[in-house]
Amino acid sequence: MHATPPTHLWDVNTIRAQFPALSQQIHGKPLNYLDNASTTQKPQVVLEALHNYYLSSNANVHRATHALADQATEALEATRKHVQHFIHAAEPEEIIFTAGTTASINLVAQSYGRVFLQKDDEVVISHMEHHANLVPWQMLCEERGAQLQVIPITDAGELCMEAFDNLLTNRTRIVAITHVSNTLGTINPIQEIVTKAHAVGAVVLVDAAQAIPHLRVDVQELGCDFLTFSAHKAYGPTGVGILYGKRPWLESMPPYQGGGEMIQEVTLEKTSYNALPYKFEAGTPHIAGIVGLDAALTWLEEIGLSAIKAHEAALLTYAHHQLRPWADQIQYIGQAPDKVGILAFHIPGIHHADIGMLLDAQGIAVRTGHACTQPLMQRFGIEGVVRASFAMYNTLPEVEQLVAAVARLLDRKRSALPTG
Ligand code: ALA
Repeated sequence: MHATPPTHLWDVNTIRAQFPALSQQIHGKPLNYLDNASTTQKPQVVLEALHNYYLSSNANVHRATHALADQATEALEATRKHVQHFIHAAEPEEIIFTAGTTASINLVAQSYGRVFLQKDDEVVISHMEHHANLVPWQMLCEERGAQLQVIPITDAGELCMEAFDNLLTNRTRIVAITHVSNTLGTINPIQEIVTKAHAVGAVVLVDAAQAIPHLRVDVQELGCDFLTFSAHKAYGPTGVGILYGKRPWLESMPPYQGGGEMIQEVTLEKTSYNALPYKFEAGTPHIAGIVGLDAALTWLEEIGLSAIKAHEAALLTYAHHQLRPWADQIQYIGQAPDKVGILAFHIPGIHHADIGMLLDAQGIAVRTGHACTQPLMQRFGIEGVVRASFAMYNTLPEVEQLVAAVARLLDRKRSALPTG
């Protein structure tokens, strides 16, 4: 452990103090939480927003004429505007509340896809997609008799853009692509993808679940047609997600789910549908979670996304540097130059689950296994990875603890090998 630690970009302890869950012990050791791409811990302001909502504002939204209902409705609509500004959508009606990224992608696949995808049309995804941005398109293609095309990736974990160019045809209707890979950490060239897809008349859906907590996302700058993300990966509550869609597309799409709120008039014979965005918001939403998302976005704005990205990048660089003496024994999965703070690796001869259990015994939480990207595992010829994913509150000593634990394992493995 001889590398000089990078200078801190901020007082990380002040940030950590805002996350009550981080101060607990796991198996008698301080929690070292490095599973942030799965879900982040929540700051006090988000916990308070949830608590206060149930304490004093709880009522159903858009349905009644009493004061509490007005309060809850105002809070929900204020969050919609906040999300609009956060991702720079043109208007609040382009922001739909859903249960999460998966729900948002299924909504587009089932509503847009069923109308605009015909037999022999094509949907393009990439080899690095999370199952949530793969399976819904596979299901849709099977149902419509359409073809799923896959952009290959390089050994470093970047999209083969030449192959993408060749995949685009006048039958391409939808390109569904992740902004940031949950396993590789790669940041994809979304603007270029959108320009090329639009040139053949296809729409682009961007899965921004792993981008929102690290990067500034501007839907108008990206030019995408749809964009999805989840609150819980960005310091907000679970069970809340966003679907952004350009108004003309959302207007042209049929409702996905039927029920209260999405209707204008219902008779036993026929139903007419509500205007945007309510047409896509059947049933009572997760109002408390939406209020929590509002607080999480404010928190992210206060800390600043560029500072967050720089802090996480410093942690990743430090981890790679510290692991250098053992580099010949580690297969890194995801080595793109442009990536977020995700360190995924495979150690030949040691099962990822065993590493995960060994780390857990020391209070270190990482994700192990296929990371919801089985085709990516097949691409690299492995069953699973060990993935440490950094967040704004992680520290250099936490990286050192991870490296020391992995190094001990590798040293043991090396000394167990027959010599001569
Ligand atoms: N999408 C989450 C992850 O990458 C579950 O771990």
